[in-house]
Amino acid sequence: MCGIVGYVGNEEAVPVLIEGLRKLEYRGYDSAGVAVLGKPGLVVRKAKGALKNLEEKIKVETGGSTLTAGSLANSVLSGTMGIGHTRWATHGEPSDTNAHPQVDVSGKIAVVHNGIIENYARLRDWLIERGVQFTSETDTEIIANLISYHYKGDLLQAVLDAVGRLDGSWALVVISVDDPDRIIAVRKENPLVLGQGAGETLVGSDVPALLEYTREVYYLEDREIAVLYRDHVDFYNDEGKSIQKKTTHIEWDAAAAEKGGYEHFMLKEIHEQPKALTDTLRPRIITADAGGVNDTAGNKGAVTNNAKKISLEEIGFDASWAQANRVMITACGTAWHAGVIGKYAFEHFARIPVDVDTASEFRYRDPIFNPKDIFIIISQSGETADTLAAMRMAKKGGARIIAITNVVGSTLAREADLVMYTWAGPEIAVASTKAFTTQLMCINLIALQFGVLRGTIDPVHLNKYINALEAIPAQAEKILSGKENIQRFASLQFNKNKVFFMGRLFDYAASLESALKLKEICYTHSEAFAAGELKHGPIALVDTSTLVVAICTQTKLFDKMESSITQVKARGASIAVITWEDDAESGRFDRIADEKFRIPRTEDALSPILSVIPAQLFAYYCSVLRGLDPDKPRNLAKSVTVE
Ligand code: M6R
Repeated sequence: MCGIVGYVGNEEAVPVLIEGLRKLEYRGYDSAGVAVLGKPGLVVRKAKGALKNLEEKIKVETGGSTLTAGSLANSVLSGTMGIGHTRWATHGEPSDTNAHPQVDVSGKIAVVHNGIIENYARLRDWLIERGVQFTSETDTEIIANLISYHYKGDLLQAVLDAVGRLDGSWALVVISVDDPDRIIAVRKENPLVLGQGAGETLVGSDVPALLEYTREVYYLEDREIAVLYRDHVDFYNDEGKSIQKKTTHIEWDAAAAEKGGYEHFMLKEIHEQPKALTDTLRPRIITADAGGVNDTAGNKGAVTNNAKKISLEEIGFDASWAQANRVMITACGTAWHAGVIGKYAFEHFARIPVDVDTASEFRYRDPIFNPKDIFIIISQSGETADTLAAMRMAKKGGARIIAITNVVGSTLAREADLVMYTWAGPEIAVASTKAFTTQLMCINLIALQFGVLRGTIDPVHLNKYINALEAIPAQAEKILSGKENIQRFASLQFNKNKVFFMGRLFDYAASLESALKLKEICYTHSEAFAAGELKHGPIALVDTSTLVVAICTQTKLFDKMESSITQVKARGASIAVITWEDDAESGRFDRIADEKFRIPRTEDALSPILSVIPAQLFAYYCSVLRGLDPDKPRNLAKSVTVE
């Protein structure tokens, strides 16, 4: 998410920055901006919306019909060094003010940033105490002012000092009026690449921004720092010691580079899940000694468990929410599947009645509202017409609304009482993957926090679940590292026209999402069944042409699953099982399954976050093998903003 470009050379910087940003548009964004070091000093221009809005703004100002060196030469935007950014909103909604670059109070230091600063609230208060007045809602403006605070004549040292105080993740590119010949770039958990052209040096958040200038790029590693000059780049480690780096030759063409070398956005987004899950979880978990959050009756949304706490303070969640008599969850498609899992999670962790509905049904029913109902509305885009209609209906009925969404400033985010962002980054493929698993992360956090506040989860169990949640990103990575196994299986099964997923409890909910993936991108007739329902009808459909994928992670129901699998196998179906690795109990499925996919052990209630990943990969590979475009399935739009 977000695109970064930095340029120091001999050309006018603005056209280079705008073209670089254009090459990064695929990453998704909601506003754009540039900062140039020119004759009058630091000049910043920003615009909400498409990059062309920024371009038009600059064209009008410089009097040119195109953005050329000629039209810029006599304007305040003339300069051969600058930084640019396309922003995907995190802190603060999309607006000109919140767009990057962000500038410190002196107006001398400009910063573009990709990532999330977790301790921004504390740093912001600290800076306010020292007289800093903020103009935006961004965490990035804090970074600009921290650098400014630490600046004692050496920009590199100031960046090092400021970065040393940040928690979270970042890719930062910094320029300063007082250091007019170099750009500083530093990263943690967000990519930055650098390239050297003839008399010019560039930095970008991805290779496409540099390809016009060079195919030899340096990949910055975590905590490394790059200092860009016109004719060379210096690299340092996080202690400020000089290091040498080798270039990598880029073979990809521009289109492949946009996808980070992956063949499709969907595959890229499937692989982004470990990082997205980390981004969703980490800001919401604090250790007891981290300070800053009260542990009283949950008044600030945080509860001590001797070791770790869930903190939903950031979203304004307090104990009053957990006094609800009933939770209602409403959403569409994949987000509704997250809601079904949410229902099971709430019942399990918080012992509270939960109704879950597709928004398209809910809005035309005659639902009964009670004053102490709370609604959880889930939507990746935050713009789905049915979902918004359901939310407005619930609001009218007097319910309080928590939104789980991926898009800051979306209609859902603006109209809900509380918003929990999934922080998954832009999802471009129509079939949802990382948005789904991060929605599950969010709903589990809320359900657990409800449980804590209602006294149904004790500190020992909370700790156990938090540890399990923290292990999930690495476990997801492990599943992805075995993707060839799923690819091989897809090569045997991709022509199947009848694929059923079945499971019980959380596995049934994971089956719903797994079947949808196959429908969407393979046009396969795939269905999900609660395994216990088979004998009430669906088993009549099973024959030798059927593939049945049984998701088996609910340990207490293994006997039942074994029996259901045996029944479909007896009717000639091919059987694949997704179950735990290193688990003596799940060994029983070896005997009856034609194919097994083992996933790392987590708590039974958290299993869908992992068990859906093999199904996502299976659908992806089947789609490719069928010669389809998994990113753009027929008849489907990414966001359904009309009924
Ligand atoms: O943006 P939303 O989460 O509200 O979208 C809801 C559904 O349209 C969406 O999940 C759809 O089902 C996806 N294409 C699933 O992959």
